[in-house]
Amino acid sequence: MDIRVIENINPKAKPDENNLGFGEYFTDHMFIMDYATGKGWHDARIVPYGPVSMDPSAMVLHYAVEIFEGMKAYTCADGKVRMFRPYANAQRMNRSGQRFCMPVIPEEDFVEAICRLIKQDQSWVPQAEGTSLYIRPFMYSDQSNVGVRMPDYFKFMVILSPVGAYYKEGLNPVSIYVEDEYVRAAKGGTGYAKCGGNYAASLIAQKKAKDLGYTQVLWLDGAQRKYIEEVGTMNVMFKIKGEIVAPELGDSVLPGITRDSAIQLLQSWGYKVTERKIAIEELLAAAQSGDLEEAFGTGTAAVISPIGLFNIHGEKLQVGDGKIGPVAQKLYDTLTGIQWGKLSDPFGWTYEIK
Ligand code: COI
Repeated sequence: MDIRVIENINPKAKPDENNLGFGEYFTDHMFIMDYATGKGWHDARIVPYGPVSMDPSAMVLHYAVEIFEGMKAYTCADGKVRMFRPYANAQRMNRSGQRFCMPVIPEEDFVEAICRLIKQDQSWVPQAEGTSLYIRPFMYSDQSNVGVRMPDYFKFMVILSPVGAYYKEGLNPVSIYVEDEYVRAAKGGTGYAKCGGNYAASLIAQKKAKDLGYTQVLWLDGAQRKYIEEVGTMNVMFKIKGEIVAPELGDSVLPGITRDSAIQLLQSWGYKVTERKIAIEELLAAAQSGDLEEAFGTGTAAVISPIGLFNIHGEKLQVGDGKIGPVAQKLYDTLTGIQWGKLSDPFGWTYEIK
């Protein structure tokens, strides 16, 4: 792919790597590429990071014609920079795009755009323990039109952000409020797609959970508010009587790449992993009887995030002893060990940026 580069002549001061937080700082450059029906993708460019201008009638502003991805790159033990399963993100972005009548982006172009941008801003890839470079590819229509119609013009962009842990708790267990009023997704809807609208619609429940003192919400299915789907910013898994159970994927659950990686690791260690419907009443009973040994979330931003406490229908239930369990700890250590190049990569998940 032809990518023209306009260098940023006013590079920013780098933030303190030990206090990055999540998504607060952005690097010196960004990637942009345009799409027009009949012309396809064109004018790929890396330009100084900064505001994008669009017409006030741009379709993204009115009808949320937008999808995105979340990925990370890491400074590895050998000093090289590697991404984690970038083609899996490219594939998921195209599956999301199909739901919104957006153009396919060739997987090779998706990965090349990100590699070239990271090389441009390589000095921004943090090196401190526990940090990474969060990669946010996104696509939207800035077509000027307030009619609800299929757009002919889109933009694909990538921005980069050096990050630490997503939750302030770090690897300490988070607390989760089971949301039984609002729903996130319904059958036939957009739940499986990574689109901004899903997250906008979740904010009211996130606020409610936060006001009640919880880190995040656990969503139940849209039809019956009975089956567990996912947590606001991550997929979820449980260890119940020695077996790992995960809510099955469907059109209302995000097919997490970290979720898939965790399942592959768990199976390689001999755990029985069952993907199935899990009723909230089953979780409640398992927590009450002590059969719920561990609960944890998986996600690019969240990595592996242990859950120490649930609020289920107003009842507070501690998971195990409220501390991180051995399975979540082993998953975190192994996954981040592979990502940071401290452990071998038997699944071929890492991708060096050359
Ligand atoms: C991710 O884990 O990459 C996400 O996109 C979740 C959240 C930050 C929206």
